[in-house]
Amino acid sequence: MTITETSPSRTIDIETLSFTSGAHLLLKRALRDLPVGGRLGVRASATDFAIHLRGWCREQGHEFVGGDDQFVAWVVRGAASQGRWRGAERAGLSDARENDAVRAAPPADWGFAARGAAIEAGGPEFYYPLQTKEQVWAENLPKLYAQAVAAQWNPQTAINWDEPFAPDEEMERAVAQMMTYLIENENAALQAPARFIAQIHPHFREVLQLLSVQIADEARHVEVFTRRVTLRGGEMGLSTVSGRQSLKTLLDEPDFALASFLLSVLGEGTFLNLLWFLERHAPDPVTRQIARLVAQDEARHVAFGVGHLQYQLATDPALRERLAAAVIRRHDALSQTAGLNEEVFDALILLAAGSWRAEDIAAGYARAQTLKDEMRAGREARLEKLGFSDAEAAELSALHTRNFM
Ligand SMILES: [Fe+2]
Ligand SMILES: [Fe+2]
Repeated sequence: MTITETSPSRTIDIETLSFTSGAHLLLKRALRDLPVGGRLGVRASATDFAIHLRGWCREQGHEFVGGDDQFVAWVVRGAASQGRWRGAERAGLSDARENDAVRAAPPADWGFAARGAAIEAGGPEFYYPLQTKEQVWAENLPKLYAQAVAAQWNPQTAINWDEPFAPDEEMERAVAQMMTYLIENENAALQAPARFIAQIHPHFREVLQLLSVQIADEARHVEVFTRRVTLRGGEMGLSTVSGRQSLKTLLDEPDFALASFLLSVLGEGTFLNLLWFLERHAPDPVTRQIARLVAQDEARHVAFGVGHLQYQLATDPALRERLAAAVIRRHDALSQTAGLNEEVFDALILLAAGSWRAEDIAAGYARAQTLKDEMRAGREARLEKLGFSDAEAAELSALHTRNFM
């Protein structure tokens, strides 16, 4: 097949190819670079080709001119021939690093279209409650997503499940109680952000991608904590009413900014300290490895929560008051509840003690108190990153749920 340039028209020989085997691709390609009114001489030998070509030209908005002994027909490129591309608007640019690539308020009817696609006008109206960049974006977002993807780990191979450690029934029970509590919190951390994914305009591709990876992280955390309990044939511990009450308030928060503040900035932020504590004090190497890997993931979840809220606060400083009000509201809702599962705190003390000797228990207790201080200080530091004063940060940090998450 050959296309020959003979200005101002061109010719094409499509040989025996018919419209039932893709002839239109070659015709479109040859017409693409011709100006409106430009002529394309078509040579073809498929049966009834001219009849089919005439129909195709009508559909595509080109003029069909009968041929001669050399050509089956001439096709004159029509003005309407750009079809769906005509008047199509570019939906930003695919690469978020380009200027103006990500629109501040993409129209809802862009729907699932790829960012950067040419959008044929019209079509159904989509409903995205989270439709502005301000509501979902973070300055460090593309980088955070790249890091999240690069840091994925396989539970089967990243953790040395066979690493030997001496069996101790009571330590195993304490570990199982801690894992039971962690799994419950992971379930909340998985479902709370998942509710928002379908509310976010797909134009903000990196937000959907990052949240999806975050949810996959939580699914992996549920897996490894579960595997740790069953590793030595252990049984799950206690799930308390107060724990479920605390976590349900996260799932019930309908506002994305407030939910990510409570969950990611305050809750997962507090969990970072807990996981680092377990990495340091867990009695066996498997639990320590798990805690280290999970903490790495959680640090990203916290970073997105902080980064997103910083972004939104830059244009909407009044959000700060709504964030504070959300902490107070949640505190009031939980004020009559029992707080942290006592079994969990006892398990923490025992794990940090490492034995039942009285002086070790005292040391474990002191470490658990230090952990609470570190959690409070961590929350205050993150609140200050969001522009709260020292005094406000201290007050809000103190009102955070006693369940940690
Ligand atoms: Fe997690
Ligand atoms: Fe998380």
